[in-house]
Amino acid sequence: ADTLGAAAQRTGRYFGAAVAAHRMSDSTYMGILNREFDSVTAENEMKIDALEPQQGQFTYGNADQIVNHAIQQGKDVRGHTLAWHSQQPQWMQNMSGSALRQAMLNHVTQVATYYRGRIHSWDVVNEAFADGSSGARRDSNLQRTGDDWIEAAFRAARAADPGAKLCYNDYNTDNWSHAKTQAVYRMVQDFKSRGVPIDCVGFQAHFNSGNPVPNNYHTTLQNFADLGVDVQITELDIEGSGNSQAEQYRGVTQACMAVTRCTGITVWGIRDSDSWRAQGTPLLFDNSGNKKAAYHAVLDVLNGG
Ligand code: G3I
Repeated sequence: ADTLGAAAQRTGRYFGAAVAAHRMSDSTYMGILNREFDSVTAENEMKIDALEPQQGQFTYGNADQIVNHAIQQGKDVRGHTLAWHSQQPQWMQNMSGSALRQAMLNHVTQVATYYRGRIHSWDVVNEAFADGSSGARRDSNLQRTGDDWIEAAFRAARAADPGAKLCYNDYNTDNWSHAKTQAVYRMVQDFKSRGVPIDCVGFQAHFNSGNPVPNNYHTTLQNFADLGVDVQITELDIEGSGNSQAEQYRGVTQACMAVTRCTGITVWGIRDSDSWRAQGTPLLFDNSGNKKAAYHAVLDVLNGG
């Protein structure tokens, strides 16, 4: 197959990109999106601050632009993200305790209900664990409402959209030996053992020289999959250029292809110039929209090469 999406579909997987609504008038951008990708994640437009800027007042315009385009084009949508300590609107940042818990659950219920039937996978909870060696939850206003806030969010999402896959999504969870990876693993194991509705784990996979692709990446993905969840690479980008970058993209794609329950990969942007890493060149297309060496490496692996 000669596009990323078609090549991924050969093995029942998807290949997606993060999309920004404000770039959808750019014809080069849209040409690549429509041609190459069969899954879409809104880069910012489905975050809490975007969808509920005032408590109880929901604004779906920019998100709908992305979701409606994806669905018209036959692409899947990954919803990102229902509950997160970051990108909260001011009113939510100022809340705590049971009022915050209730507001968070209402947000999950309202948004998942609004999009019911249109979302392939939801990042129900994003980035709830601390960095470093503690293996603890990240401190946040949501965490201070009680340890059970994560499972409460998953139960609310399941009730609102029973057809969507429900994912926990985080970064720096790629290296199997890291405390954060182990901590997320234990949470998923616990959720599965108690029947908390979780279907998938998202690995953001933002790599750079300080956080390289680990040699044990395949082990990490396989160990999570063995808990009985799908795994997805959800925000992939890798700093660098040329063959060295291409080989790292090859390795990540191979790791996913080697795990039956690794169901798809999403890159966090299309061209280098679309990346949140403004100074870098971490993506598969250059600023002009040309395919980079990394693109050819990924396509080759998806095609079984
Ligand atoms: O839209 C406003 C614009 O009106 C304003 O003038 C401008 C001034 O700062 O800000 C614009 O919003 C920015 C937005 O991106 C859109 O460009 C925000 O400031 C900026 O904070 C926001 O950054 C996003 C970041 O998440 C926020 O958390 C990045 O685009 C987005 O790529 C990044 O994505 C995250 C994932 O959601 C979670 N995992 C990590 C990943 C990378 O940080």
